[in-house]
Amino acid sequence: MNKKNILITGGAGFIGSHVVRLMVNKYPDTQFVNLDLLTYAGNLENIADVADKPNYTFVRGDIRDADFLKDLFEKYHFDGVIHLAAESHVDRSIENPLEFVETNVIGTVNLLNTARNLWQNDFNDKLFYHISTDEVYGSLGKTGLFTEDTPYDPHSPYSASKAASDHFVRSYHDTYGMPTVISNCSNNYGPNQFPEKLIPLFINNIKHNKPLPVYGDGQYTRDWLYVIDHARAIDMIFTEGKAGETYNVGGFNEYTNIDLIHLLCDLVDEKLGRPEGTSRKLITFVKDRPGHDKRYAIDASKINRELGWKPSVNFSEGLSKTIDWYLENEVWLNNVTSGDYQKYYEEMYGDR
Ligand code: NAD
Ligand code: DAU
Repeated sequence: MNKKNILITGGAGFIGSHVVRLMVNKYPDTQFVNLDLLTYAGNLENIADVADKPNYTFVRGDIRDADFLKDLFEKYHFDGVIHLAAESHVDRSIENPLEFVETNVIGTVNLLNTARNLWQNDFNDKLFYHISTDEVYGSLGKTGLFTEDTPYDPHSPYSASKAASDHFVRSYHDTYGMPTVISNCSNNYGPNQFPEKLIPLFINNIKHNKPLPVYGDGQYTRDWLYVIDHARAIDMIFTEGKAGETYNVGGFNEYTNIDLIHLLCDLVDEKLGRPEGTSRKLITFVKDRPGHDKRYAIDASKINRELGWKPSVNFSEGLSKTIDWYLENEVWLNNVTSGDYQKYYEEMYGDR
């Protein structure tokens, strides 16, 4: 690692917390600042185990606040940024698109500007790494994979805001010569994911015998990757990736939602000692998500070829570990589902 002071944004969220843990432990001679606003999705419990490490500092703050960022960058003199902070849930973006523009677009441009102001005379050994999503590429038909050259075609306010932020990052590379890198990853799953996303939501509902709201006909396809494999990819791209490049990250692991849900029901039933078929009865087909992308699938051959990355956890192992984690971490689940969660759930699913 040739960096001394690294800013990780969104490090109290799902993926960010796994990145913080991996990098703080792996690079004891590098200082890491984790900047997170602690929205509903950010939770310091996710990274309690690194809180006391000498090379780790947590700062609560907002990437939408340019003055705050200026002070932070001047204080810590970051030579690297790993940017994960975002509003990340498609359904919420449909309800409140402006929030996604403010955090994902303006927040990212604020970070780019602040880094440029601090670095402008010396881009040597600097890197701004932006974490993005495969959703910017739009939707696939029955065949084909997203490559790094697939044209952008976002359909939700979330993916439109991520696409816009990706364009800004590339524009800072092309216009100002800032060393930037972007990765676009498929659906992550694993411990610490907020239970608004499919897998943790359904595990929690199965556990509590609540209906499982399947959007539309359930024939939508996603490419699932265990979160720790994404964190490994982020570490490799940050330390070995080439400035100006894009890397696609994915699991080579496609499932239709309904097949995945059947699998989840059966695995949770088995782990809870319930009779076979019990939880499948909770499946309830509900109104579809507007603008729902049919299929995502990533061609991750570039990162494999150039950096030697490939997923290390297979899906049955990853899913089993994930279910065990949610069943064992009841306190975490109770904490994140108290407060506003009930209101969110009612608003999201009440009339579906
Ligand atoms: P998350 O919603 O779990 O976490 C986001 C974090 O950002 C939270 O800790 C939140 O408090 C913080 N945050 C939000 N607004 C902020 C602000 N204004 N200032 C500072 N911090 C703020 O998200 P995630 O699923 O961990 O995703 C992380 C990144 O990875 C996002 O950029 C997302 O677009 C991208 N991504 C996610 C997936 C996935 O499957 N979850 C896949 C590919 C890419
Ligand atoms: O592809 C990467 C993206 O994956 C990330 O960029 C996003 O941050 C992340 O949220 C995720 O987006 P999806 O929309 O694919 O994930 P979600 O878990 O919301 O939904 C997965 C699939 O399950 C999708 O087809 C919608 C469906 N679904 C989801 C929920 C929450 C349901 O059928 N019922 C539900 O209640």
